[in-house]
Amino acid sequence: MATPVLEVHNLGRAVTQDGRVKSIVDDISYNFFPDKIYTIIGPSGSGKSSLLRLLNRLDEPTSGEVVFHGKDHCDYPPCELRQKIGYLFQTPYLFEGTVRDNLLYATKNLSDESIKLLLEQAQLKPEQLDRPTDNFSGGEKQRVAIARLLATCPEVVLLDEPTSALDPSYTEAIEKLIVDIVAKGKLTAIVVTHSPEQALRIGKEALLMVDGKLVETGEINQVINEPQSELGKLYKQRQLK
Ligand SMILES: Nc1ncnc2c1ncn2[C@@H]1O[C@H](COP(=O)(O)OP(=O)(O)OP(=O)(O)O)[C@@H](O)[C@H]1O
Ligand SMILES: [Mg+2]
Repeated sequence: MATPVLEVHNLGRAVTQDGRVKSIVDDISYNFFPDKIYTIIGPSGSGKSSLLRLLNRLDEPTSGEVVFHGKDHCDYPPCELRQKIGYLFQTPYLFEGTVRDNLLYATKNLSDESIKLLLEQAQLKPEQLDRPTDNFSGGEKQRVAIARLLATCPEVVLLDEPTSALDPSYTEAIEKLIVDIVAKGKLTAIVVTHSPEQALRIGKEALLMVDGKLVETGEINQVINEPQSELGKLYKQRQLK
């Protein structure tokens, strides 16, 4: 039996909104195993992004814990943790300058060989390396962000709706890129998507969240098409928005 790379134990985050305490991530427990793709699905506001942010300490939990390689999250220096558990935002925020500048910003001592490999992994052309990224298309910018994410050799990547801010014409290529990277590298990807169709295209294992709770987990096709829980069935019928 494989050992989980990331364990989530009774994880919770409560926030105060309009004077009332609200549980946006509510008592979630789950094990993520190495070299797999997981998709987190659920209606808008169900806590998908909030859970993802807890996984690399962009936010702190108010209860429970996250364990990375058998050691509590909090026992890692945040910088080291964020290199090993990388985060890709919906909108590709790049630093000013060229693709090379962006890669070197992530990791100072990248060899030419490593840079070449990163370009290949993110399916960028060698001639793009020294071009400023401000004229790049949305899809190309997201590829640069993916190359930069991979530059620190993460073991887990957290992708929050990686295609939703892009022109739909880039969606398929970026989805394929994510699947390829996980298939070729030693990497676990956890992808948040609001689209069950996208989850079916890229994910193997799915986690369905509703109101901050994990209501269904399992093989993606089963979670989406043959849910067992009442909330899962409502989600399937598109009755939860
Ligand atoms: N810092 C915060 N303070 C107060 N409420 C918050 C905070 N962060 C998130 N929330 C609330 O928590 C709930 C879950 O938000 P979250 O962004 O995680 O949902 P989501 O599933 O990612 O939604 P979407 O699909 O729209 O991106 C929402 O009701 C949101 O308004
Ligand atoms: Mg979100």
